[in-house]
Amino acid sequence: MTASKPDIYRDLAKELAALLAGETDRIANAANMAALLYYGLPDLNWAGFYFRRGKELVLGPFQGQPACVRIALGKGVCGTAASRGATVLVPDVHDFPSHIACDPVSRSELVVPLIEAGKVSGVLDLDSPLVGRFDEADQTGCEQLVALFVGHHQRNPG
Ligand code: SME
Repeated sequence: MTASKPDIYRDLAKELAALLAGETDRIANAANMAALLYYGLPDLNWAGFYFRRGKELVLGPFQGQPACVRIALGKGVCGTAASRGATVLVPDVHDFPSHIACDPVSRSELVVPLIEAGKVSGVLDLDSPLVGRFDEADQTGCEQLVALFVGHHQRNPG
């Protein structure tokens, strides 16, 4: 029997908590989280982070094909999520005019902002080759995983 999305995200949350425990280095923890999601969620072709540097997002740890390094706030799905401070779920990237096609294989995308002390410090970006891959269960699950990551680093500054 295939596990439900809430079950998958509950298991991923346990695994992420175990990976984060005792480690304060954000880059190391982001790298492990990207790998956990890339290999733990079906039908992804990219999973990773962009971190905010002034008015840009800069590529962080990821799994997948090499990607664009700098994205201006407000541009693309990532820059839109960062400037809104809210998750952006795009069922079909062809319908999102400013989508930045790092990999032409990507057809749907979910971007969750990292919000720390009221400010966006980066985004988690998931891409899929399938149209409509992400739904509300993915949004809720990924927002909870990002909250775990952010909360861990607020409690354990490096
Ligand atoms: N598609 C993203 C760019 C990042 S890559 O997907 C890894 C965007 O439109 O912001």
